[in-house]
Amino acid sequence: MTVPPPIAMLAELTHRCPLACPYCSNPQDLLGREAEMTTAEWADAFRQAAELGVLQLHLSGGEPAARPDLAELTAAAQGCGLYTNLITSGIGLTPKRLDALEAAGLDHIQLSLQGTTAELADWIGGYKGGFDRKMKIAAEIKARGIPLTLNAVMHRHNLDDLERTIEMAVEMGARRLEVACVQFHGWASRNRAQLLPTRGQTEAAKRIVSEAEQRLRGVLAFDFVPPDYYADYPKACMGGWGTAGLNIAPDGTVLPCHAAQTIPHLDFDNVRSKPLAAIWYGGAAFNVYRGTDWLPQPCRSCDRKDTDFGGCRCQALALAGDAGATDPVCRKSPRHQAVLELLEAGGSRADTAFVYRTAAG
Ligand code: SF4
Ligand code: FES
Repeated sequence: MTVPPPIAMLAELTHRCPLACPYCSNPQDLLGREAEMTTAEWADAFRQAAELGVLQLHLSGGEPAARPDLAELTAAAQGCGLYTNLITSGIGLTPKRLDALEAAGLDHIQLSLQGTTAELADWIGGYKGGFDRKMKIAAEIKARGIPLTLNAVMHRHNLDDLERTIEMAVEMGARRLEVACVQFHGWASRNRAQLLPTRGQTEAAKRIVSEAEQRLRGVLAFDFVPPDYYADYPKACMGGWGTAGLNIAPDGTVLPCHAAQTIPHLDFDNVRSKPLAAIWYGGAAFNVYRGTDWLPQPCRSCDRKDTDFGGCRCQALALAGDAGATDPVCRKSPRHQAVLELLEAGGSRADTAFVYRTAAG
């Protein structure tokens, strides 16, 4: 296949974060501050990304505001012509830091929402007072007119508040709401039994989003990521492996997706020691599941293979023990029974305590 250049890059600037969300997609082996790339190393990675063809840069974490050089990094990315999106919980942002980010040319903020009340949000985020601080910074973002997406990570414990979540997005002046049902990678995989929504919640969420999309046309746009396990077919994870985007971990490891390090047989290159273009086009980890030639049956003979590329590799590993298998979410997968069994068992431990994400040093 002809390999296209990536459109988007997610820069995990740090794994450090004041919150401890049990649905965190960061790996269970978190990197500490000492492993993180320096300002100059990140700036060089951004320059290489822009030269490679990347248009959008997502500054993420952990909590990217834990990096004191966040404004400097934003300015470096802007200087390369990248569109910059800051993915943040809002904790660690202040009016003064927003001044600096605006001066650096930040294009967009994606603010996470853990819950619609302080009680719920602080319990889910594992951080007392977090909700109130988030609401203050949300008001600042609105007053400044910085383009805002509200990212609501939804699961069993907050999906029933979806209507209020939508109201809050409108009140905050968000232009877009991501109703993102938890994907079970990283820390989230340890909390699957607690977080898995019910089928009833999933169906209700589809109705509520569809009705709100009509009602709020021109006011609020929606991105709805329904829970994978209730779908008939998987999503094209990352828009296809090695096709649309890449991630860089805090230490410079270049990944085809945020959970790729769970796949034990893959070797990953590092942007500190190899040019990004060489990694994207020639890196072994990027080529192993690229395109459709590698697909197993039943994907190989399936007319959806150019739509979903056989689904998510990390999910195939987690549910079928084989990253090269058809994603078991697919109803045609010979391992689909594993998903049905999870759904059957789902809820049995919904009320047990979360395994909160621990702190990265
Ligand atoms: Fe997608 Fe493979 Fe399922 Fe077809 S068989 S829908 S290509 S995962
Ligand atoms: Fe890794 Fe889907 S999260 S391929």
